Amino acid sequence: MNYENIIVASENGIGQITINRPSKLNALNVATIKELHDGFDALNKNPEVRAIIVTGEGEKAFVAGADIAEFANFSVEEGAQLAQQGQELLFDFVENLETPVIAAVNGFALGGGLELAMACHFRVASDNAKMGLPEVSLGVIPGYGGTQRLPQLIGKGRAMEMIMTAGMITAEDAYRAGLVNHVVPQAELIDFTKSIAVRIMKNSPVAIGKAIKAINANFKEGVDGYQTEIRNFGKCFGTADFKEGTTAFLEKRKASF
Ligand code: COA
Repeated sequence: MNYENIIVASENGIGQITINRPSKLNALNVATIKELHDGFDALNKNPEVRAIIVTGEGEKAFVAGADIAEFANFSVEEGAQLAQQGQELLFDFVENLETPVIAAVNGFALGGGLELAMACHFRVASDNAKMGLPEVSLGVIPGYGGTQRLPQLIGKGRAMEMIMTAGMITAEDAYRAGLVNHVVPQAELIDFTKSIAVRIMKNSPVAIGKAIKAINANFKEGVDGYQTEIRNFGKCFGTADFKEGTTAFLEKRKASF
């Protein structure tokens, strides 16, 4: 597939999506959101791809937010539709993929950019990264899941302060708050993130997909996460991966998934 705003690649089982609008600091316009949906969908459906990394082109920005120029004149209905479509196509979609998705936050991750990073399964940041949800400075609120996922990740009080002040935090602050799992020099960001992907890929992809589902269930209204865990735990027993994993252990060899 040909993409205008993203670069999609895969090598040695690791898929990589690079958001590629550096002149606009990789801001997410609607066309980019649609391409991201297609790119993630294609990588998720590729059985050879066992982990996906998403990052931004250039050294300055992961994503500097939703494209402000695109929505500046929207009506109430258009605003709600923008958020609804974006959440369905990209943010909820990424969160619920069975393939692990890691955000490699290489610079500014603001507004929709931080919301995209938060929709990923976890985050690694470069030491120059800056993160924030500045929407209230524009007279709007986060609309791509930010009011929900930020408190899930860093707690309600800290999320309230970040959203109300519209301020940016450094990569180190984000690490201390639990928003990112690691901070590394920018030149090492992709290799370091790939090294985590490689560790993930040694494990059962089927079990990982079910673990993602069970973990996410804790954050879904009306869903009993413990029941989701029980159901998915049981399902694992019917898989070839379970047979291989347990047999390999008993035979004192490494499992091959
Ligand atoms: N939407 C649309 N365009 C954006 C954008 C966004 N969210 N963020 C940056 N850009 C564009 C700028 O308009 C500029 O385009 P131009 O060269 O055609 O004028 C280009 O990207 C470079 O940005 P610039 O502001 O000149 O870079 P800077 O280094 O001075 O500042 C930021 C960097 C990130 C502090 C600043 O771009 C910014 O505050 N962006 C908006 C962040 C935001 O509010 N995001 C939430 C949106 S809901």
